[in-house]
Amino acid sequence: MHASGTSTNTLTIVDNRTGKKYDIAVENDTIRAIDLRQIKVNPDDFGMMSYDPAFMNTASCKSTITFIDGDKGILRYRGYPIEQLAEKCSYLEVAYLILRGELPNKQQLEEWTQLITTHTFVHENIKKIMDGFHYDAHPMGMFVSTLAALSTFYPTAKRIQDPAERDLTFFRLIGKAPTLAAFAYRRSVGMPYVHPDNELSYAGNFLSMMFKVAEPTYAPHPVLERALDVLFILHADHEQNCSANAMRGVGSSHVDPYSAAAAAAAALYGPLHGGANEAVLRMLDEIGTMEKVPAFIKEVKEGKGRLMGFGHRVYKNYDPRASIIKKLADQVFEVTGRNPKLEIALELERIALQDDYFVKRKLYPNVDFYSGLIYQAMRFPVDMFPVLFAIGRMSGWLAQWQEMLQDSEQKIARPRQVYLGSGNRDVPMLSKR
Ligand code: CMC
Repeated sequence: MHASGTSTNTLTIVDNRTGKKYDIAVENDTIRAIDLRQIKVNPDDFGMMSYDPAFMNTASCKSTITFIDGDKGILRYRGYPIEQLAEKCSYLEVAYLILRGELPNKQQLEEWTQLITTHTFVHENIKKIMDGFHYDAHPMGMFVSTLAALSTFYPTAKRIQDPAERDLTFFRLIGKAPTLAAFAYRRSVGMPYVHPDNELSYAGNFLSMMFKVAEPTYAPHPVLERALDVLFILHADHEQNCSANAMRGVGSSHVDPYSAAAAAAAALYGPLHGGANEAVLRMLDEIGTMEKVPAFIKEVKEGKGRLMGFGHRVYKNYDPRASIIKKLADQVFEVTGRNPKLEIALELERIALQDDYFVKRKLYPNVDFYSGLIYQAMRFPVDMFPVLFAIGRMSGWLAQWQEMLQDSEQKIARPRQVYLGSGNRDVPMLSKR
């Protein structure tokens, strides 16, 4: 309590239009936007709203999944630093952590792995859906569509309040995401689909479904298998990003989780989000040679384009995922040989990190700047990059979705608007317009 008698956990707002004073409760350094509604000039006014395009300063939920401190470059899942998770855990362990809230013990991990592994196969009709796509269809388009199609194969997933159904959805979506992704790739290169190999690890099986040709058993290179697994860990969740927000927003209508996940994947497809890793490689191709780097930077500074893979809405210091990926890249390149575009990327980074334009705006390499170079060295075509992001992010989308469903404060997501269009007017006859 303040000496003036006002509770210290409040924010006092004075409406200078009316001279009225309002005490608004503060909880977790936030005020509830709905508390602003009482602020009115006339009793029959709608009441005040907050205006926040792109949710720049609005918390849409309370969450216990992922913590980010963008200024300090911190990322933690359920309290564990991303650096430790990337060093000590497998992707399936991290998926368990994200979804269940705690790291699994040995037995829990074995059961979890077994359950996900036995849900990697897709219905044969999924292949027919894949076959229906045009020969040059983008794999992310195929991935988004077949994710949505899964809802028609599992109609009981609509029972979203049933924890057993939700669990089944976790096993299926985490299990089948790599299968859909690999099938989309095989379709695009005209190669036969490879069935999951349940003897392999999560990442190893994915590599097998992608690249197996005639060998009876595909043996993934252990360094590449681990690198891919780490990349999945780094992409697993990132709190309220565009696709998580889509998963929550679409899921808030209580649609089935496959449809919501398809919406999340669609959001991820965009070049400002998960499509950025693809855009980075296209940008490096366009630059072509080291000599053209300064001219390219000049164009970016003149507003003629963006330096893809740079900048982040939240990280204004460095993206901790980018630091891990840079180290990972060295290990991968030892096996695959150096990606020739690395020189251009390093030069772009070198110039950008000392250029006033980027320094002033706090633009640093993000997760997508180097991940694409690794993927390419591992023989993934550029079109597949956003699909790879989606495989890792699936666990995060599902955790965000479940948390939203279990949060008694959540309802169907429905923002307000500030209407600035025409007032009421009569429709003139067509001949009079
Ligand atoms: N290159 C050049 N200028 C940039 C860039 C960039 N990559 N990013 C931001 N800016 C400038 C922007 O023009 C603006 O300048 P000014 O103040 O003079 O108008 C200022 O920096 C702030 O930019 P903003 O667009 O207001 O920032 P934002 O927080 O809305 O955007 C972003 C974040 C990630 C969309 C943006 O930085 C961007 O477009 N980056 C390139 C795309 C990219 O790499 N996306 C992947 C993000 S990480 C993966 C993920 O989580 O999805």
